Amino acid sequence: MLRKIDSFEQYKTEYKTSVENPEKFWEEKAEQFEWHRKWANVVSCNFNEAETRWFENGKLNITENALDRHLTTQANKPAIIWEPNNPSDQHKTFTYKEVHSEVCKIANGLRNLGVKKGDRVCLYMPMVPELAFATLACARIGAIHSVVFAGFSAKALADRINDCSCKIILTADGAFRGSKTIELKKIVDTALNHCEVVERTVVLNRCGIPVQLKEGRDLWWEQIFDNQSAEFTAESMDSEDPLFILYTSGSTGKPKGVQHSSGGYMVYAEYSFRNVFQYEEDDIYWCTADIGWITGHSYIIYGPLLAGATTVMFEGVPTFPNAGRFWEICEKHKINLFYTAPTAIRALQAYSTDFVNRHNLSSLKVLGSVGEPINEEAWHWYHKNIGKEKCPIVDTWWQTETGGILISPLAGITPLKPGYASLPLPGIQPVIVDSLGNELTENEVEGNLCIKRPWPSMLRSTWGDHERCKSTYFKTYPGMYFTGDGCNRDINGYYRITGRVDDVINVSGHRFGTAEIENAINEHPDVIESAVIGFPHDIKGQGIYAFVITQPGETGSNDLFSKEIIEKVVEFIGPIAKPDKIQFVSGLPKTRSGKIMRRILRKLAKGNHHDLGDTSTLLDPNVIDSIKLGILIEA
Ligand code: WTA
Repeated sequence: MLRKIDSFEQYKTEYKTSVENPEKFWEEKAEQFEWHRKWANVVSCNFNEAETRWFENGKLNITENALDRHLTTQANKPAIIWEPNNPSDQHKTFTYKEVHSEVCKIANGLRNLGVKKGDRVCLYMPMVPELAFATLACARIGAIHSVVFAGFSAKALADRINDCSCKIILTADGAFRGSKTIELKKIVDTALNHCEVVERTVVLNRCGIPVQLKEGRDLWWEQIFDNQSAEFTAESMDSEDPLFILYTSGSTGKPKGVQHSSGGYMVYAEYSFRNVFQYEEDDIYWCTADIGWITGHSYIIYGPLLAGATTVMFEGVPTFPNAGRFWEICEKHKINLFYTAPTAIRALQAYSTDFVNRHNLSSLKVLGSVGEPINEEAWHWYHKNIGKEKCPIVDTWWQTETGGILISPLAGITPLKPGYASLPLPGIQPVIVDSLGNELTENEVEGNLCIKRPWPSMLRSTWGDHERCKSTYFKTYPGMYFTGDGCNRDINGYYRITGRVDDVINVSGHRFGTAEIENAINEHPDVIESAVIGFPHDIKGQGIYAFVITQPGETGSNDLFSKEIIEKVVEFIGPIAKPDKIQFVSGLPKTRSGKIMRRILRKLAKGNHHDLGDTSTLLDPNVIDSIKLGILIEA
C-alpha cells in the first residue's frame, strides 16, 4: 500500500515540491509501478504544438500494474463486486485472481480474432463485469479501447466506430436499465449498415433477447472467450502508446476522440484516486458512473484497481425499484467510499428521506461528487442525510480531457467549502485568465480556467485530427491548456467552477455540443434553422432548450412536430440528448455577420424578457418580439 498525503501541512509541502520540481515529484510516483524498461526522460512538452510526453521510452503494461502486481499479495481479495440492475438477482464478486483470468481469456480470444497492438476495439455494452474485463483485455493486448456509452443511438455509434476505424465491436443482446430493456444488438446492427470497417461483432447474452447473428461477422461471447487460456503475456507498451479513445462533445458538431496515453495516465489515475478519496486498504469503494464516461474509466476501473482496491460496479439506476436503491447497496456491501453525480443527488433529494433512513449507512467515510457544479442545497442534503455530517464531500473537478481529478479537496484533509472544488492536486497549476488572456494572479477574481503546466494524464491528441486538439485546447491562451470552464477563486485561493463558457452544455453530467443537437434537429425536412442553448434545470443541472424556425406554410400540429424533432435527436444522438423545451420561432437573434447571439436566447429561455442587455448589434432588433410570441412546447 502506497503512502498517502495525510495532513493539510503535508499537502502544502507536497504541492510546493510538485511545482518546484515536477520531474522529481512525478518520477517518484512512477517508480512505484512496474515497468519493463525505465523511462529516459520524465516529461517533455510543447503546448503550442499540443505535444506532451511523459516517461518517454518507458515500457509497461497498465494491466500488469492493475492486476498481476497484486497477485502475490492479495490474489483472493475482491477486485470487482458487481451489483445487478434487479435487486433480487445475485450480485457477483471477482477476486484479483479471477479478474486476471477473465481478462487473459478475453485477451486470448481477441488475439485469435486477429486483434493486435494499436488496433481499435469498440465496446458498446451494458454495465456488466464483462465490460470491465474486456476493457482491460484490450489494454493487455495493447489494442486501443473506445467505449461508447450504451445510451447513444445507432448513428452516434456508427460515427464513433468510423472515426477511429474499429475493426471489432464487443456488445450484448441487450441492457437492463431500471424497468427498461434496451436492445443493444439491434442498435449495433443498424449502426453496422454504415460501418464497413467492422470485421467482427462479439455478442454477450445478458438479457436472453433473440438476436440475429450475421453469418461470418457475428459471434457469441462464450464461443470466443470461454474456453481460452487464463494466461496471457501482456504486450509491452511504450509509455506514450495510446491506451484509449473516448469521444466527447465540444463546440463544433462533431464529437472528438480524446486520446489518452498508457504511462502518464496510469500514474495519475492511481495517485489521484488514492489521495482524493484517502483510500485505505480494505475500503470498499463505489463509483456510480457508467464505464462509458471518463469517470468510469478512471475511477471504476483503472484508479481503484491500480491501487489494489475493491471497486463496485452497478448495472442499474438510482430510482429502480425505488429511490432507496443506492442506500440499499451501500448497506449491503458496506461501502466506505461513495462517488456519484450531483444530478443523482438532486433526483433523490426529491423523495422522502425515509428511503435513506431505512438503511444503515454507518460504513460510509467519504462522499464524492463529479460531473457538474454541485449546488449548495444538494451539497447540504448529501452531507446531512447520507454522510450524517461526519463524511467529507470531495467535490472533484475534472474532464474527459484531463484524464483524472485536477481540483478537489483531499478527503478529511482539505477544509471544505460547499460549492467549491477547493484546491488543485499536487502537480496541477490552475490559472484564471480574463477575456484578453491576461493571467489574474490575485485572489477574489473570476475568469476562464486554464492549466499552466503539463500533468501526466492529460489528453495527447484528438484521434485523427491533431490540429483540432491544438486549436480547441492550446490556441485560445498560448502556453496554457484551456478547459472551457468559467471559474472564480476566493480569498483563500479556493476554486469554484461555475460552468462552461463555450457552446457545450452539461445535462445530468453528460456533455453535448449545442451544434451537435442543432445538426440533428436540422435533419427534419421542415426545419430551416435551429439554435440550442442550456437553461437551468432543477434536477439535470442544465436542460436543453431548442429555438426552431420552420418552413413557412408548415401547418401541422406543433405537438406532433416537436415529437418528430425529438425523434431526430434520438436518432442522431440518443435519448439522453432529448430537448426539454422546443419553441417555434420565425427568426433568431443574429448579428450583422450572421452569428447567433446565444446570450439573448439564454435570457429569453430563463423567462427574462426585459433585461436583454445590448441588442444594438442585432441585424433585426424586432426579431426579439417575434421570438417572445413563439409557441413553446415542453416535452
Ligand atoms: C463539468 C467529467 C463543476 C465541467 C469528469 C467540465 C464540473 C465538464 C465538475 C467535464 C465539478 C466536472 N464542478 N463542474 N466538480 N466536474 N464538471 O468531460 O464543466 O464529462 O468541463 O468529465 O463537467 O465533463 P466530462
